[in-house]
Amino acid sequence: MEERKKNLYSAVQPTNNLTIGNYIGAVQNWVELQDGYNCFFAIANMHAITVRQNPAELRQHTLELLALYIACGINPEKCVLYLQSHVPAHAELCWVLNNYTYVGEMERMTQYKDKSAKHADNINMGLLDYPVLMAADILLYQTEAVPVGRDQRQHLEIARDIAIRFNNAYSPTFAVPEGIYVKGGAKICDILNPAKKMSKSAENPNGSIFMSDDRDTVIRKFKRAVTDSEAEVRYDAENKPGISNLLSIYSVFSGKTIEQAEAEFAGKGYGDFKLAVGEAVADKLTPIQAEQAKLLKDRDYLNGVLKSGAERASYTANKTLAKVYKKIGFIQL
Ligand code: TRP
Repeated sequence: MEERKKNLYSAVQPTNNLTIGNYIGAVQNWVELQDGYNCFFAIANMHAITVRQNPAELRQHTLELLALYIACGINPEKCVLYLQSHVPAHAELCWVLNNYTYVGEMERMTQYKDKSAKHADNINMGLLDYPVLMAADILLYQTEAVPVGRDQRQHLEIARDIAIRFNNAYSPTFAVPEGIYVKGGAKICDILNPAKKMSKSAENPNGSIFMSDDRDTVIRKFKRAVTDSEAEVRYDAENKPGISNLLSIYSVFSGKTIEQAEAEFAGKGYGDFKLAVGEAVADKLTPIQAEQAKLLKDRDYLNGVLKSGAERASYTANKTLAKVYKKIGFIQL
C-alpha cells in the first residue's frame, strides 16, 4: 500500500529581489520536495506589511515572485501555490492563536529584536505578532514538514509550542510540524564579505547576486568578488572564506562536486575561476529569467494560478479553522 504523503508548508515574503542564496536555500529545495510531499507554498504578503511597503512595488514583487516560483520549476498543478491574503483563515486563526501566546515569548524573538532595532520608528503590533501569523500559516494545513532556513528556526519552534499548547488544552487539533533544514554546504555568503550570509538587503548590492541580475551584471559582480592573497582554488572555509564560498556556489550551479571543481582549476588563476563561477550562475539564471518574463506577460495565466491556489488552500485551511472554532466554543452557522 502506498504511504500517505506528508503535508509540507513553506512561504517566502514578496519583498525584495530574491538572491541566489534564497534560490538555493528555498525555491530549488522545494522543487525537489514537491513529488514526495503534499506541498503548500505561499507568498507571505501579510508578513511583508509588518515593515512599510510601497503598494505598487508590493503588487509587482508579488507577481514577480509567483512567476519566479513557476519558472524555477514549482508546478502549480502538483502544489498548492497561493497568496496568503487570499485565504482569510490565516488572519482568523492568527487571532485565535494570539490568545494562546504570551507577549513575553514574542518580545524575546531574535528577529523581532533585530527588526525593531532596524525600524525603530515603526515597532508595530504586526511585527510583534509575526511569529503567531506564521504559526497560523503552518498549523492551518496540518503541516508535518516545514523547510526553512536556520534564521526561521525560532519561529518554527514557537509554532510547535503553540500547537502543543492548544492540543493539550483541548484535544489533538493540529499536527505538530517538524523543520527540514537544508543540509550540506549550501549556505551562500556575501561575495564581498564572506563572513556574512548573502542577503536581499545587504548594504552593498554588489555582494549579493539577485535572481534578476542579467548575465553581464552577474559576471561583473563575480569578477570583483573577494578572494585572498594565495593563488590556489582550494576549499578551506576557515582560512579561505571567499574562495570557499565561490567554490560552493560553483558546485551548486555547475552540478560538480567541490573536489571536481578544485581539480578543474588546479594551476589556474583566480581570474579564470571567478569568470567560470559567473558563467555557471548566469547559464542557470538566463533561462529562468526568460521563462519568468514570459509568464509575467500572461496575466490571465497567473490570475488562474492564484485563483485555483486560493480555492485549494482555503478548502484545507477552513477545515482546520472549523475544528478550532468548535473546540473553543464558537457557534457555527
Ligand atoms: N517568515 C518566513 C521568512 O521570512 C516566511 C514565512 C511566512 C514562512 N510564513 C511561513 C516560512 C510559514 C515557513 C512557514 O522566511
